[in-house]
Amino acid sequence: MATGKKLSEISWQEFKALPLAAKGDYFQGIPPHTLIAQQFSRTRLEELCTLATKIKRINKRRDGANFLKTLLSDKRAMLYFAQPSSRTYLSHNAACQILGLDTMDVRDTKTSSEVKGESPEDTIRTFSSYADMIIMRHPVGGFAERVAWMLAHTNREIPVLNAGSGADQHPTQALLDIYTLARSFEKTGGIDGKHIAFVGDLMRGRTVRSLAWLLTLYKDVTLYFVAPEPLQISPDILELLDQAGTQYVITQDFASVMPIADAVYMTRIQDEWDAEGESCTIDTSDFSIGAEHMDILKDTTVIMHPLPRRSEISTDIDNDPRAVYWRQMRNGMWIRAALILTTFGRQDEANQYYDDYKPQA
Ligand code: ASP
Ligand code: CP
Repeated sequence: MATGKKLSEISWQEFKALPLAAKGDYFQGIPPHTLIAQQFSRTRLEELCTLATKIKRINKRRDGANFLKTLLSDKRAMLYFAQPSSRTYLSHNAACQILGLDTMDVRDTKTSSEVKGESPEDTIRTFSSYADMIIMRHPVGGFAERVAWMLAHTNREIPVLNAGSGADQHPTQALLDIYTLARSFEKTGGIDGKHIAFVGDLMRGRTVRSLAWLLTLYKDVTLYFVAPEPLQISPDILELLDQAGTQYVITQDFASVMPIADAVYMTRIQDEWDAEGESCTIDTSDFSIGAEHMDILKDTTVIMHPLPRRSEISTDIDNDPRAVYWRQMRNGMWIRAALILTTFGRQDEANQYYDDYKPQA
């Protein structure tokens, strides 16, 4: 939804000082950027989920897959991943291939002219000379916003898609998590009214920070933040939940939450952000899940994880129908395809094809 607010008309200092919800208004124009979870409305989430399912169904047949490949065959995407990634990189790349976009990448800043002293800003401007979209992961929180703002002040403002920034945001992961929750609860009334538990390193887990916000868009959800005290969710997220009127519980008692949770969202310890290996001294043994817990969970509970996992989910439960983390990962490819297609405003052609041929699940 266009708000009329333009990144090109605000100074960086003014923009930086805005609250998150107000920043979102600047990302909805032409081109639309995807930078923070706070820019999404429930309507937009529902549109993306519906489109993701349509793309998935169209892609099942060869003629459908060939049609999809024509949709963005005039575009090129730059994948700039200055931090390690398996799924986010691969699923964006696969989403681009589904839609016919060519991709280029830099996955290691040591192979770019940044080693010659080129600034990250000039590096991005260089990418924008060759690409029509930048999909980027960066260790510096807020850097993707800075990039979008900077490009808005050039004659080549191309869309920027945040594929994970610092320890603060991972908006496209939150989209695939919403898609997974929505599909999992399709027959049980959807996400509204559900009890969703987040477990692990909630202080530094950017996926939880983005998803917690998106869940404020659903009615009567209750969020449980289950973590050792030093890794508990930060006050800034609780403030947003308070403002949105979303119910939450903060606890270290995973055992008491297990029987009531409709979804359990596990996370790993994000020790890459440790200053001196301090995470090793925290007892995290009560914040994991395995075969011994399966009888305590409801039969309908879904177990999620953004991945990669370490020992917080035992491989013993991988084949339990409630373990949806592998499906969750694949969902990322479909919702990212939907996001990229709408970023270029080409969704009508896919919707029309779907209506004409009605591909089935
Ligand atoms: N892959 C997710 C991220 O990049 C979660 C994780 O690494 O634990 O944030
Ligand atoms: N979930 C996620 O972001 O995975 P990667 O870090 O492997 O991209």
